[in-house]
Amino acid sequence: MKYMHQTIIFIASFFLAFVSLADNTKADTPPLVRYDSIHHPTIAPNGMVVSQNKLASQVGADILKQGGNAIDAAIATAFALAVTLPRAGNLGGGGFMLVHIEETDQQFALDYRELAPELATRDMYLDDKGDVDKQKAWFTHQSAGVPGTVAGMYLAWEKWGSLKWKNLLAPAIRLADKGMVVSYDLGTNLQRRQERLSKNPITKHYLYKQDGTSYQAGDILRQRDLAKTLKRIARKGAKGFYQGKTADLIVADMQANEGLITHADLNNYKAVIREVVSGEFTVPGTEDLVDNYQIVSMPPPSSGGIHLIQMLNTLEHLPLKEQGRDTAEGIHLLVEAMRVAYADRSVHLGDPDFYDVPLEFLISEDYGKKIADGINLNQARKSSDVAPVTIAKKESPDTTHFSVVDKFGNAVANTYTLNFSYGSGIMVKGAGFLLNNEMDDFSSKPGVPNMFGLIGAEANKIEPEKRMLSSMTPTIVTKDGKLKMVIGTPGGSTIITQVFQVFLNVTEFDMGMSEAINAPRFHHQWRPDMLFTEKDAFPAETNAALEKLGHKIKVRGSGKIGRFEGVLVLPDGKLEGGADIRGDDSAEGY
Ligand code: DON
Repeated sequence: MKYMHQTIIFIASFFLAFVSLADNTKADTPPLVRYDSIHHPTIAPNGMVVSQNKLASQVGADILKQGGNAIDAAIATAFALAVTLPRAGNLGGGGFMLVHIEETDQQFALDYRELAPELATRDMYLDDKGDVDKQKAWFTHQSAGVPGTVAGMYLAWEKWGSLKWKNLLAPAIRLADKGMVVSYDLGTNLQRRQERLSKNPITKHYLYKQDGTSYQAGDILRQRDLAKTLKRIARKGAKGFYQGKTADLIVADMQANEGLITHADLNNYKAVIREVVSGEFTVPGTEDLVDNYQIVSMPPPSSGGIHLIQMLNTLEHLPLKEQGRDTAEGIHLLVEAMRVAYADRSVHLGDPDFYDVPLEFLISEDYGKKIADGINLNQARKSSDVAPVTIAKKESPDTTHFSVVDKFGNAVANTYTLNFSYGSGIMVKGAGFLLNNEMDDFSSKPGVPNMFGLIGAEANKIEPEKRMLSSMTPTIVTKDGKLKMVIGTPGGSTIITQVFQVFLNVTEFDMGMSEAINAPRFHHQWRPDMLFTEKDAFPAETNAALEKLGHKIKVRGSGKIGRFEGVLVLPDGKLEGGADIRGDDSAEGY
């Protein structure tokens, strides 16, 4: 009997293998996901959550299974990441959420970026000699902007949420209160950052063991004060953070450490819904098929959406497909488009509430064409020869991204951050969460690069209650009014160019989401005049050919670029979740 049973299983699996083999070779099978590739997509029919941490993805997927929509799942995932991924998931930071409502094909940009406290001043980080004091700008209470995350999540819930608010916080509270198993990623990361994070006694107390040693993979980490803060937020909504005990703890910590954030700053903080920035992209050569994608992304105070669309407008006029994806000639085209975008970023981008950003000009088709016309297919330009465009009108490394799709086709692309890994490294005494050091995203001094090497000017100078410029690019792509992709990544200045590359991998090179994400990445940001690549991204001969074209190549410090999380709607309507292989990222579908 047992033997017969095994035989049946054997025959059945043989039959299934045959069927799936036959299926893979059928002409009408979508070529996007190929079984013979090394990439391992997660495919599910109803919903998908892709984040940088498995526990958080599971929290989001459970909310979807309970009948929650993509926005509910995104909120629950964001709070879970604040516990499971302390270096970037957060309560004390800020970010952007892009929401897609399938029924009406509408998109909304939720801006919950931090802003400068009322007491901030333009030159607050300059020392006696007029130089930027990096220690002050990066690792003190003064490096923190007024946090926006809790206000952002609450506004998202008020607008689009369908489950009870407290249900969305419950999983995070449980993970913080009862403890969670420390992952390999978290254990090794805490060890690597121990020296910096232990400098602050409160952070040392919360994130390291009593004996001062680091948590290792497999240990249990409990965060009880963080759980209490989350409970206050669960009970009182955003007021549980911006008023009452949590606010008192933040302000007390600020006052004891020369910080600037006051009760008034917290009380006045508002997340805002902005009009999305959008553009169209037609794969060159398919114009007859009207094969165009609608790209919807984050407007200022992020520079991401504008420059993504600007670069795609450029690429529509360049022969990328003919040149090839991994060839020196193909890479060269992308790099030249990046060079111009980042030059423009350095002068034209800032908080739109304070500065008149020339958005229409930068994303116009004409300007994209003009940039393409200026690109020599056989020769790299020097960045010193590429100046930011003059517009004849009045002048005006740890983040985390997750992508969610629900069974209705609604979607959320959310990128939020503390800026550096673990932000300022400072945790709020009694409240158990880290403070951002987002103030470094302002231009502390015109022309002096920030931590990401980005240069800014007037548009991005420090002003009270102003939002600092960002590169975060949560992006949603639709086709014929239906959801197609949800994409985004951390990576500071490299975020925009990563989204650019993954989008092109799918649209021009017919890759599935996992393959598109796992493919090697590179980056150019005008200054420094350097083509940054991942370690072993390209064979030696490609690098040599790039150098011959005039590019200077450098492997990026960590050897990796970003942690990309995306969802692709496959031709049969199923969802492909792509979680980056650069870490233990996870796609959970159902
Ligand atoms: O808003 C920005 O552009 C930066 N603060 C993002 C920082 C970041 O992505 C760090 N992660 N690797």
